[in-house]
Amino acid sequence: MRISITQIKEMKRKGEKIAMLTAYDYSTAKLIDEAGIPLILVGDSLGMVVLGYESTIPVTMDEMIHHTKAVVRGTKQALIVGDMPFMTYQVSFDEALRNAARFVQQGGCQAVKLEGGESVAETVKRIVSCGIPVMGHIGLTPQSIHQLGGFKIVGKTPEAALRMLNDAAALDAAGAFAIVLECVPEPLSKLITEQVSVPTIGIGAGKHCDGQVQVISDLLGLYTDFVPKHAKQYTRLFEVIKNATSSYIGEVKAGTFPTEKQSYPLDESVLTELRKPKPKR
Ligand code: KIV
Repeated sequence: MRISITQIKEMKRKGEKIAMLTAYDYSTAKLIDEAGIPLILVGDSLGMVVLGYESTIPVTMDEMIHHTKAVVRGTKQALIVGDMPFMTYQVSFDEALRNAARFVQQGGCQAVKLEGGESVAETVKRIVSCGIPVMGHIGLTPQSIHQLGGFKIVGKTPEAALRMLNDAAALDAAGAFAIVLECVPEPLSKLITEQVSVPTIGIGAGKHCDGQVQVISDLLGLYTDFVPKHAKQYTRLFEVIKNATSSYIGEVKAGTFPTEKQSYPLDESVLTELRKPKPKR
């Protein structure tokens, strides 16, 4: 049985911190699900860490659905959130509803996430009213990177901080079940966390959020093009992978791989049969 949004909201009430990670494929999702992660985001960060784009902007609905399906197939207990890509929820309410529905109907996830505050509150309300749980996302919203002028901390001036408080309140009122706060000064995310009724999930937003989310490739040390200040490498898989690859290349060259252990035998009688001289026609 998968974790429900009610249980996630209940965790805030009980003061239980919420751990969330991104995942993009079957095998990784299976491992982190077995490790007990309650919330998995199929983030559009896959554009950068899996597909090699420069930003999340080129990511399409089809790419997101493809990866969401894989993550859903690999998991049994985590609540899976599909990240709505750039311009799939802004053009019209109809389009937003249709795309949110694709995530749950075709992708098989249980909720969607979209970026923005007051400007998307009505969209959030309409998606929620169709029975699809929505996670909000404010602060640094990577789909607006050109508008924001780069990957930077948001909410440092009184006006920007007030805007963010209003955005969080608007998402809460619209029925979002949780709100991601990305790259937000710690005292501001503390204030937001105290003021909204639903869990805040921070990434670069300090320790007072109700939960934390990390990009799995940062956590495992898999993506090395850019490591944000707020990322913590719990392991360095890039080293493990490079070392394993070098050993493999070395063994293939030296003829020490494969050994008997990795090879399949053939019964001697079959070989004898094969060696018999063939009758001439
Ligand atoms: O796409 C993503 O991975 C995200 C997280 C950083 C919250 O939106």
